Amino acid sequence: MPEPKHPEIDDLLRENRSFPPPAGLAASANVRDPGVYEKAASDPETFWAGFARELDWYTPWTRVLDWQPPHARWFLGGTLNACVNCVDRHLDGPRRDKPAIVWEGEPGDSRTLTYADLHREVSTFASVLKGLGVRRGDRVALYMPLVPELAIAMLACARIGAVHSVVFGGFSAESLRGRINDAQATVLVTADGGWRRGSVVPLKQMADEALGGTPSIRHVVVVRRTGGSEAPVRMSRGRDHWYHELMQEASAECEPERMDAEDMLYVLYTSGTTGKPKGIVHTTGGYLTQVYATTKWVFDLKDDDVYWCTADIGWVTGHSYVVYGPLANGATVVMYEGAPDWPGRDRFWDIVERLKVTIFYTAPTAIRAFMRWGDQWPGKHNLGSLRLLGSVGEPINPEAWIWYHRHIGGDRCPIVDTWWQTETGAIMITPLPGLTHTKPGSATRAFPGISAEIRTSEGAPVEVGGGLLALTRPWPSMLRGIYGDPERYVSQYWSRWTNDVYFTGDGAKRDGSGFFWLLGRVDDVLNVAGHRIGTMEVESALVDHPQVAEAAVVGRAHEIKGQALAAFVTVKEGTPTSDALVAELKAHVAKKIGVVARPDDIIFAADLPKTRSGKIMRRLLRDIAEGKTVGDTTTLADPAVVAKLKDQYRSVEE
Ligand code: WT7
Repeated sequence: MPEPKHPEIDDLLRENRSFPPPAGLAASANVRDPGVYEKAASDPETFWAGFARELDWYTPWTRVLDWQPPHARWFLGGTLNACVNCVDRHLDGPRRDKPAIVWEGEPGDSRTLTYADLHREVSTFASVLKGLGVRRGDRVALYMPLVPELAIAMLACARIGAVHSVVFGGFSAESLRGRINDAQATVLVTADGGWRRGSVVPLKQMADEALGGTPSIRHVVVVRRTGGSEAPVRMSRGRDHWYHELMQEASAECEPERMDAEDMLYVLYTSGTTGKPKGIVHTTGGYLTQVYATTKWVFDLKDDDVYWCTADIGWVTGHSYVVYGPLANGATVVMYEGAPDWPGRDRFWDIVERLKVTIFYTAPTAIRAFMRWGDQWPGKHNLGSLRLLGSVGEPINPEAWIWYHRHIGGDRCPIVDTWWQTETGAIMITPLPGLTHTKPGSATRAFPGISAEIRTSEGAPVEVGGGLLALTRPWPSMLRGIYGDPERYVSQYWSRWTNDVYFTGDGAKRDGSGFFWLLGRVDDVLNVAGHRIGTMEVESALVDHPQVAEAAVVGRAHEIKGQALAAFVTVKEGTPTSDALVAELKAHVAKKIGVVARPDDIIFAADLPKTRSGKIMRRLLRDIAEGKTVGDTTTLADPAVVAKLKDQYRSVEE
């Protein structure tokens, strides 16, 4: 595995602007004592147990942590229900009639659900699921637009002890099928469609395609979202049911299941270094404890905040920081269904102004797009309600950070740049807004109780300098495994060094003040517009096309998306290459995986640069795709290949 190669890091480390916490926020922040770091480090179990105690348990745990590397169990013997913690427990006091979800559809329709409303909807849908035969431990697949019913369905699963597996609506029918089959889901909840830039994404039609090969599915529940003729829906008798019809007949009362702290809460598929996505398993007690704690401290959440995380619920950010974290804290959560530039490039700022959003959490790729669109769009709106900004998903470049700080935060809001992963379940490296003097481009320090280090490939700790990011102690919301593949869990994450140290797959540097600067992946995983894409998955999708002999996919730097996908393709003997074939291959990948994985560039190559042992040298392809001087080619079987490819790439770009 190559060490990260990032010349821009040297500029980053020269970044010495420092932003102290705003005085007002520092004075009233949920965490003000700088001693928390040391206190938590000296006894992390007691630290986490303190947060766990702020949740509602049926029976208390008898032991905080059982660590048999690399397997951890947290809050042993404790029983609780995640839905009760996110909904029921807010009903007894003033939060009962507080908005839990303030949702806005892309066409401009809106709905507000108070905690009491949410309780009724979730309990009713939990009864529906039970009526369809869903039992504790069963898997339920969710393939939906960003509508309240998605959060309702997740919480309903949690209520009856079923395991949800959300599949992002941008994934294809084939991806959905693969995930349903891997998890052996018995019920699918979907919608007729969702709105995106004024068009309908025909989710039910795509689901129908998937359902041709999913023998485990017994029932399909369809939310009516788009209606109309754009995405006509065919209901298969006996299998398919309308959500609103089932809801009318079901009981609004549904006793929650008492779940063990280590019972599975959800599976979420994410890309890795092989062709097959991994089902990341999260359990109940530890996960809820850490998402609760981090939401409260990192976002400094208060009861009167209006909190908006713009992520789709189909990704882990949506699971942890749209649904479980904020609702466990009794927050008011804003949800918006559609695109940030629809109908205008100020849609987000219009929402912030109208709903008086106070906390705003988004991705660098979005910030870079806003920057490119120009200051006039946020400038048209009063963003004075905002008091805290967050960033997640990829490294944020200092320019974007500064722009965000000035044009969205009005130079008054702290920015929390939060590093974490699907596997970590919750935020791991982040500023604490009342304490940390932030530096643009740095995620700063490990959250209290979290232990992060930089290591060399050989495992030596690096105090100051670059290397691989490692997590050296178990944490409550850590993944408990890969669904159905216990060996891959060990080999993927716990085999780089000793089996008690987690390898993140990220490169990072640490500066003299102990701050972390994340540099991106060092494995065959790409981060395109904050979405995780495995190069091998895209390569398998390409070679699946009848005209393709071989393919190599690399990431190249992209101004807005962070990384873009460049695919080098060798076609089969006698196949003519053409623009039509480029379009066809892009469409093929979209069909196999989803629009999120559609390559930006396709370069036809007579040969790919390979070592004498036949290994494709992706490093060289990356240099070519980025128009850089190509590195050492002496190990190539045929060095002339590189020159040819460079010429071809140039002609693609013209
Ligand atoms: C990968 C995880 C965490 C939820 C969204 C993505 C990158 C994430 C940051 C950040 C630099 C970041 C890493 C990580 N990443 N946050 N603040 N700074 N890089 O979850 O799809 O599991 O991807 O996203 O490379 O490994 P994910």
